[in-house]
Amino acid sequence: MAAKTKFQAIRGTRDLLPPETALWNHVEWTAHEVFGTFGFGEIRPPIFEPTELFARSIGLETDVVSKEMYTFRDPTEELDKILIDVLRFAEEKGITFGFGSDNVETPAKVQRILSEQPLLQSESVTLRPEATASVCRAYIEHGMQQLPQPVKLYYMGPMFRRERPQKGRYRQFYQIGAEVLGGGDAPAIDAEVIEMVMTFFDKLGLTGVELDINSIGHNAPDCRPAYIEKLRAALEQVKDQLGADSQHRIETNPLRVLDSKLEHEQAIIATLPRIADHLCPDCAAHYAAVKRQLEMRGVFFKENWRLVRGLDYYMRTTFEITAKGLGSQNAVCGGGRYDGLVELLGGPPTKGIGFAIGEDRLILSLQESGKGAAPQGRDIYIAWMGERAYATAVRAAKDLRNSGFSVELPPTELKFGKALERADKLGSRYALILGDNEVSEGSWTLKTLVDGTQQKFTEPELLEFLKQRKSGS
Ligand code: HAM
Repeated sequence: MAAKTKFQAIRGTRDLLPPETALWNHVEWTAHEVFGTFGFGEIRPPIFEPTELFARSIGLETDVVSKEMYTFRDPTEELDKILIDVLRFAEEKGITFGFGSDNVETPAKVQRILSEQPLLQSESVTLRPEATASVCRAYIEHGMQQLPQPVKLYYMGPMFRRERPQKGRYRQFYQIGAEVLGGGDAPAIDAEVIEMVMTFFDKLGLTGVELDINSIGHNAPDCRPAYIEKLRAALEQVKDQLGADSQHRIETNPLRVLDSKLEHEQAIIATLPRIADHLCPDCAAHYAAVKRQLEMRGVFFKENWRLVRGLDYYMRTTFEITAKGLGSQNAVCGGGRYDGLVELLGGPPTKGIGFAIGEDRLILSLQESGKGAAPQGRDIYIAWMGERAYATAVRAAKDLRNSGFSVELPPTELKFGKALERADKLGSRYALILGDNEVSEGSWTLKTLVDGTQQKFTEPELLEFLKQRKSGS
């Protein structure tokens, strides 16, 4: 007999279950609604893409690309077809192939050998670790630069990163994000995107929300690169006092040292040169205008010169939002401007800015602050007994569900006592009692479960009563 395997969700993944999923739906519907009021339309890109798309956009030296991607080889039909054509041609011409010195193989045998080596005929694909790259790819692929600019898109769905799982950090997690592509880089665009996410959080009643902003300049010699050289030189001076990760980053990406959470590095980092003092005049003016625009919209922010973000595509405005009750993984949203990205992926020069919210963390924070209580329980539990009553119960369930009530109709007969017990356990508001007596009389008894009161109704009266209660409650 085969050993029994106890299957479990893979480390870093989890099932989202009722009643919590009701809160997920509420959050997602609020996003649809709020983002809609800002003129955004939904995009649903695929969950896997060519590895190269992420490698090129996010950057090879980032944690995401260098350590965290779920990448696998996917056999490509195109390559298969080409190979088969070549082999067929070889067959016709009587060509044979040699592997090593004395093995001479026929094309048919070569085809069989190669078909056992899928790696030779595959492309590398990756489960998306984020969706900005996909949205840019879609913008280019569908010629969206022909549409009225800017193009405003939002998305929601699962992302995948092989990180060390902990509270608020998963290997499959969910993001709700938005991107604005094309149409210039007016500071008002940056401010409006930030205003939108803050409005969304406000609508959900998220508490302890803090918005940090920064500008990391752009890639011209008199801007970020000059700052990075200054930063690198300053870091070299204190290299011995830094941990191994930061030491490595002095070479690969000195900006990321500013991200360090290591306790003993904090005092050292506080003395490093700050990018705000080294922005070129255009970036400095852009940053000042973004801040003015945020003030005009009543959006509170804190400037944080250490906010550099972990992905390579950013320039100028960067921002992060934290919320209450999340412990060390407290960033509930991150975003910024990425003007060169569409071009880097082969598209026309296009400005871009966006953000992504960690939905898992958003939900956690809502739950921790008591905003997570999802409505639970059925409206009506139908306690029926007897053949004739069952036929009426089936019809009643259908009518009530059509009128928008959630109804539990037990599939087998239960004694009334047992049925009422179940109704209670399910958190039902009412029990509709249908026995053969009720059916003969044409009267339906409704029991309100919190106080045990009972009332008799005719069928139309009952529907009317329930509808009034629903709209009044
Ligand atoms: P990100 O900062 O890598 O940015 O991720 C955004 C948010 O996703 C984080 O603030 C966090 O809430 C959530 N998140 C990230 N990793 C995990 C994880 N392992 N478990 C749970 N939540 C996580 C981006 O992804 C960019 N694409 C954002 C963006 C859009 N920038 C411009 N447009």
